[in-house]
Amino acid sequence: MCGIVGYVGKDIAYPFLIQGLKRLEYRGYDSAGIAVSDGSLRVQKCKGKVADLERHVGSDMAVGNVGIGHTRWATHGEPNDRNAHPHFSMNGHFALVHNGIIENYTELKRDLEQKGYLFQSETDTEVLVNLIDFFYTEGEEVNAETAVRQALARVVGAFGIAVICEGEKDQLIVARRGSPLVIGIGQGSYFVASDQTPMIGYSENIIYLNDNDMAIINKNCLTIKTVEDKPARFKISRISKSVGEIDKGDFAHFMLKEIFEQPKTIGDTFRGRISADRHSISLGGLLEVLPRLTVARRIILIGCGTSWHAALVGEYLIETYARIPVEVELASEFRYRNPILSADDVVIAISQSGETTDTLVAIRMAREKGATILGICNVAGSSVARETDAGIFTHAGTEIGVASTKAFTAQVTVLTLLALKLAFERNEISSNQYSILISELSGIPDKIRTILAGHLQIKEIASRYKEASNALYLGRGSLFPIALEGALKLKEISYLHAEGYAAGEMKHGPIALVDDNLPVVVVSPRDSYYEKIVSNIQEVKARKGNIIAVVTEGDELLKEMVADVFEIPDSHPAVTPLLAIIPLQLFAYYIALLRGCDVDQPRNLAKSVTVE
Ligand code: G6P
Repeated sequence: MCGIVGYVGKDIAYPFLIQGLKRLEYRGYDSAGIAVSDGSLRVQKCKGKVADLERHVGSDMAVGNVGIGHTRWATHGEPNDRNAHPHFSMNGHFALVHNGIIENYTELKRDLEQKGYLFQSETDTEVLVNLIDFFYTEGEEVNAETAVRQALARVVGAFGIAVICEGEKDQLIVARRGSPLVIGIGQGSYFVASDQTPMIGYSENIIYLNDNDMAIINKNCLTIKTVEDKPARFKISRISKSVGEIDKGDFAHFMLKEIFEQPKTIGDTFRGRISADRHSISLGGLLEVLPRLTVARRIILIGCGTSWHAALVGEYLIETYARIPVEVELASEFRYRNPILSADDVVIAISQSGETTDTLVAIRMAREKGATILGICNVAGSSVARETDAGIFTHAGTEIGVASTKAFTAQVTVLTLLALKLAFERNEISSNQYSILISELSGIPDKIRTILAGHLQIKEIASRYKEASNALYLGRGSLFPIALEGALKLKEISYLHAEGYAAGEMKHGPIALVDDNLPVVVVSPRDSYYEKIVSNIQEVKARKGNIIAVVTEGDELLKEMVADVFEIPDSHPAVTPLLAIIPLQLFAYYIALLRGCDVDQPRNLAKSVTVE
């Protein structure tokens, strides 16, 4: 949520800043700005996307070897030019970009106003930059670094900041508490960004700044300490992304590219974990905690958004196969409700980005209560990866489309591996069943390829429903979360109101919505719920609802009964969620496309939500 970049080094800062912002735009895209310094500070910022900023920028920004940039997801104050970052201090000494929320900004602002500071914007960020300015101008022999430390000591809330000061040529100061920051080490240059993608092509070596750390970066020198000026620990890692991952290739949108990547990303996620003979699963990241996990009193899966939907699928899989009680919690609820946890509970946090604030705070709270904390995460080096006792990485690669697709199926793949592994370790399934289920999972990429091959048919069906204003998605068992996820995809990118419901609950409310205008998407492959869901379909049909059903290939009965079908190959119920979601992702994509929506950057959303 909000992307930050910074540069100091031997080259002109602007090219890295503008390209870095383009790569971070998935984090927020309602306004953008850049500040550079060649002894005097210059800023350009505007409402809109980075491309709009690029059009605004005159040649005067291509000066100076130090600079900062920002792409915004508004928290305080509407998206407009004034509220866009960077913000200047009133005296013009400092420019600052910020990701996060300063919770005590009202009180700080009041104090500063009493001291004569005037504000141009409605943001909390402008309060922070003026607070830094205050310590700088009022203190005796206070340099920029000390002023930033003094100001941060007064701040309550979350921040990732990058600051430049007019008086300190060629110096960049960055600090984080809650919001991620990465430093790239180049040849005679340092780069800063909210994640490692802007570094690709610039730097091979990166440092993930730890929470509460601050870096003073000069052209030839990097100093990392805590915000309180104490020694800090940090590690230099190799960059793990490549240019291909952040490039759309021949696809019209990142989302479409990412949907089509799923045979590969699911394969990447299970490859190396499934033995060549398909008889066993090994989860390297869990080796040490596996004994604790197999005897867990309870597993609690937490996450937000799509990751929460993956957790719901995981609940069905773990309870069905491993027979361990599972609870699924929205991280944003879990963290506030003082849950009862003990040392024999295992909390598994699921997060694509590894930076979602609610999930991180929930992890910390669960740790304090003594639970074992594991992570399922897509980003090595992210906060979730660093703050959990152990975990399993999904290998989905960089996901750029704001609506999550391949990260979801990678999470479900990991949860399937985990459920089967636990089931076998706990003697809940035989070796033979174990091998059958492993083979079923390894057959998924090919089955997804056949669904993807029919994408134009899905586009054609989407064209018949693009004018709808509401949609209802129904499913049962592990396909109920797939109905929720299908509905979420549609609402996120096409702005259609869509609701996911457990099919058995339909008669308790949503059936009142059914008429001949309402598309009802029913996830109804042949499984143990089939007869029940066919009855639900009859109930919708009797009320003239337009049914689109996800069916098992060759299901003539349902083909006859409903308006449209998305066929998926026959599969074992343990792995059907991985297939059933694919046509729903494509359906949402094509509806959004046909409605002229911005598929990769839907309004009001951001990919990484680092505010509460
Ligand atoms: C945002 C994204 C969703 C994502 C959710 C949780 O809302 O738009 O796609 O599912 O955050 O993010 P996480 O990175 O923790 O999985």
